[in-house]
Amino acid sequence: MAASKKTGGLAGVNAGQTHICTVGQEGAGLTYRGYDIYDLVDNASFEEVAYLLLHGKLPNPAELSGYIKKIKASRGLPEALKTVLEMVPADALPMDMMRTGVSFLGNIEPEGDFSNQLHVADRLLACLPSMLLYWHRFHVDGVRIDTETDDDSIAGHLLHMLHDEAPSELDRKSLDTTLILYAEHEFNASTFAGRVITGTLSDMHSAVTGAIGALRGPLHGGANEAAMALIKMFDSADAASAGVHEMLERKDLIMGFGHRVYTTSDPRNTVNKKMSKALADNAGDTLLYPISEAIEKVMWDEKKLFANADFYAATVYHFMGIPTHLFTPIFVCSRITGWAAHVMEQRADNKLIRPAAEYIGPDLRSWVAMEDRD
Ligand code: COA
Repeated sequence: MAASKKTGGLAGVNAGQTHICTVGQEGAGLTYRGYDIYDLVDNASFEEVAYLLLHGKLPNPAELSGYIKKIKASRGLPEALKTVLEMVPADALPMDMMRTGVSFLGNIEPEGDFSNQLHVADRLLACLPSMLLYWHRFHVDGVRIDTETDDDSIAGHLLHMLHDEAPSELDRKSLDTTLILYAEHEFNASTFAGRVITGTLSDMHSAVTGAIGALRGPLHGGANEAAMALIKMFDSADAASAGVHEMLERKDLIMGFGHRVYTTSDPRNTVNKKMSKALADNAGDTLLYPISEAIEKVMWDEKKLFANADFYAATVYHFMGIPTHLFTPIFVCSRITGWAAHVMEQRADNKLIRPAAEYIGPDLRSWVAMEDRD
């Protein structure tokens, strides 16, 4: 159904205040808690960024090592949750499994009053990768993996559980960087959904469950998987160029391009593109990266549409051996930090989120008795 031109998906509507993030703000660009995204990518680990988002300040060395220890110690999955994950069908969408996993965790580890909210956020941050890879390995390889690996970083933990061995530093660092880039993005659709749920004074698991549902769609987080599917459709850069021209003529949406807030570029793309090139060179790829560049060129030349964070993230993940259907759930493993920060911010100054709608239905009319209806 076409979006109403009048409501326009709340485009440009200021729907509240936040201390957490700026997106494309003049003179600031993309910042988390006032720090430029490029400074964070160059200098911080994902764990440092998670701490920053959740606590509002950078951790000092003792705080960071304590935080890493805490996250490592919270990776285990309760037996009841493992049973549920085993029951989720092998051909289910991993995003549906993640939604179910978080919702179920809310039953067996309920949040209770909100005094525990930071621990709930840390628990989710720690165990979402475990949930994802436990389910994936159980159904794909028929093994019940130990989710309590010794890796300090969440990126290392994730890749270790996927491949049964510790990753190369290039892969670990590249995944870590994408987790930083995906961590937070102001009032995007999933975060806003989470804030709406939080505004009713509901629990964090409900907010995150709803946010996962919103992120799942291809217009939002699902775009990284759709972008990979697009890139894989072609067997050469020339075929990609011709194919995307045809798709544009048919008015198809090209996934991984465009953005609601950014107008000329997505700052995250510069970083992802560089990583995609480095990983392509490392893998000896001479196909997927050139195809990606060819698609990017057509999109810019024909539509002045730029690659968003999801486009090159797709090949970054592909080159490190991550199956395509795990891309969006990995986004969840990162964005949990932003979602939880917003849940806590919403609670700190809560007001029920309940906008008004412009009524465009029929005028008031007389009741029609059953026997008089057509
Ligand atoms: N491919 C082809 N055309 C696109 C496009 C894309 N990826 N993104 C936008 N456009 C076109 C629209 O068709 C529209 O054309 P029109 O004016 O002729 O109708 C115009 O650009 C404006 O787009 P619109 O859909 O109104 O912008 P939006 O702010 O509502 O949408 C997105 C933003 C992100 C939903 C949209 O760009 C999109 O669907 N992108 C693909 C999905 C994606 O990558 N999502 C991840 C976002 S980080």
